[in-house]
Amino acid sequence: MPAATISRMGNTQVQQLEIHGGKVLNGTVEISGSKNGSLPILFASILAEEPVTLRNVPPLSDIHTTLKILSELGLSVESQGEVDADGLTIRIAAAGELEATAPYDMVRRMRASICCLGPLLARQGRARVSLPGGCAIGDRPVDLHLKGLRALGADIRIEHGYIEARADRLVGATTYLSGPFGPTVLGTANVMMAASRAEGVTTIEGAACEPEIRGLARFLQALGVPVEGAGTHQVRIEGQPNLRGADFTMPPDRIEAGTYILTGALAGGEIRVEGCDPSELRSLFDVLERMGVPHEIGEDYVIVTGVPRLKPVDVATLPFPGFPTDLQAQLMAVLTRAQGIGLITEKVYPDRFMHVAELNRLGARIRKEGPTAIIDGGHRLSGADVMASDLRASASLVMAGLIAEGTTRIHRIYHLDRGYVNMEKKLNRLGAKIERIHDESGV
Ligand code: EPU
Repeated sequence: MPAATISRMGNTQVQQLEIHGGKVLNGTVEISGSKNGSLPILFASILAEEPVTLRNVPPLSDIHTTLKILSELGLSVESQGEVDADGLTIRIAAAGELEATAPYDMVRRMRASICCLGPLLARQGRARVSLPGGCAIGDRPVDLHLKGLRALGADIRIEHGYIEARADRLVGATTYLSGPFGPTVLGTANVMMAASRAEGVTTIEGAACEPEIRGLARFLQALGVPVEGAGTHQVRIEGQPNLRGADFTMPPDRIEAGTYILTGALAGGEIRVEGCDPSELRSLFDVLERMGVPHEIGEDYVIVTGVPRLKPVDVATLPFPGFPTDLQAQLMAVLTRAQGIGLITEKVYPDRFMHVAELNRLGARIRKEGPTAIIDGGHRLSGADVMASDLRASASLVMAGLIAEGTTRIHRIYHLDRGYVNMEKKLNRLGAKIERIHDESGV
C-alpha cells in the first residue's frame, strides 16, 4: 500500500469539528462500503490460499488498523485508491507461514481485531491474541468466541492477558452461541471462519442474524466454502481443506445510511440517502413512522423529509432485525427535538450512554434510569464544547450540533474517523457548515 495512503488513513493529529448550527439540510448523500461488514471479511482473507481482491472498502482508521495487523501477521497487503475517494480496492495475499500473535498494542486500538483468532487458528494451528478488555460502550466479553472455538477442538488458555489457542486439527461440531444479551456478531463470525477450514460440518445455533454475517457468508462461499442459513439463527458450514481466492465487493454501510436518515429527520429539508440497502433498515422505518417523519423507500435509496413537529417514541435496541444499538445515540439526538418524553432502552450494551452527559451539555434534558434513557424533548439546544467518547456517540454529537444554536466544538473526533467516511464533507454538501480544525486544547 502506498505510504501516503496508510498514513492519511491512520492520521493521529488531534483535530476537532466546529459546527455552526441551524442550517436546514437538503440534497443527496452517497453511502460508503460497510465498516462492520468489511472488518471480518478482511480477517477472513487469512484463510485463503490464493490472493483476494476486496472492493468498495471504506477508507477509515479501523480499516487502516486492520490492514496494519494483517501486514504485521505476514500477509501482503496492497491498496489502490485515494483516501478521499469513497472506496478502496485492497489486494491481500497470505502465502507461507504467518505470525500467530496479535499483540495488545494492536488489539486495544480496535476490538474487532479479535476476529483474527479464528482464521489464524484454522490456518496456523495456533493463535495468540491479546484479550480486548472493555471499552467506552461497556463490558465486552469474548467468552462466546472461545466457547465456539473450543467446540471445534481448540485448546484455549488465558495467559498474561493473552488468549493462547492451539489445535492440531479443528473438527466440525454443533455449538450454541447466544449469551445473556443475545447472539454475538463477531463471535459468530470468528467461529464461521474457523469452521471454514475444519474437518466436516459445523452448525452454529443461536447465531447472529446481522447483515454483516450474511456478507461474511457470501465471502466464504466465494472462497469455496459451502455455507447455509446465514441471516438465520442456524448457520451450517462445510469445512474445506483449501480455500481459493476471490474478487468481492463490500456491501453498503447500513449504520452510516441510518445515521443520515436520522439526520434528515432531525435537520431536513429533504435528504436522499443513495446507495443503501433499505431491506436492512426496517426497524428504523418503523421508528420514523411512529415519529411522524415522511420517508420514501426505493430499491437502493431512501428519501426522508424533516417536519416541524416530531412525536416522541419508546424504542428498545435489539439484535437484528431489531433497532440497532449502533443507531441508539443518533436516535437520542433526534428525540431531543421531539415534543414530549421519549424513551430508549439499551438491551445490547446496557452501559452505552456516554453521550447522555455530552448531549445535556448542549441543553438536552436526558436522564438515565438503569439501561433506559428518558428524553424530555423539545427544548432548545445551544452550542458548546463537547467530547466524543465512542464512534456512534460522536455521530450523535455532530447531529445535535447541527440543530444547536451557535457553535459546537466536538473534541476527540478520532472516534468519528474510525467509522464515518468524510462525514463533515458529506454533511457540508447537504448545506451544513462544519470545519475540521487543529484542536489547540490537544485532547
Ligand atoms: N457478548 C458476550 N459474550 C461474548 C461476546 C458478546 O456476552 O463472547 C455480549 C456483548 O457484551 C453484548 C452482546 O453480547 O452485550 C452483543 O455483542 P456482539 O458480540 O454482538 O458485539 P460485537 O460483535 O463485538 C458488533 C459491532 C458493534 C455492534 C455490535 C452489536 C463490529 C466490528 N462491531 O460488535 O459495532 O454494536 O456488533 O450489533 O462489527 C460500532 O460499529 O460502533 C460497534 C460498536
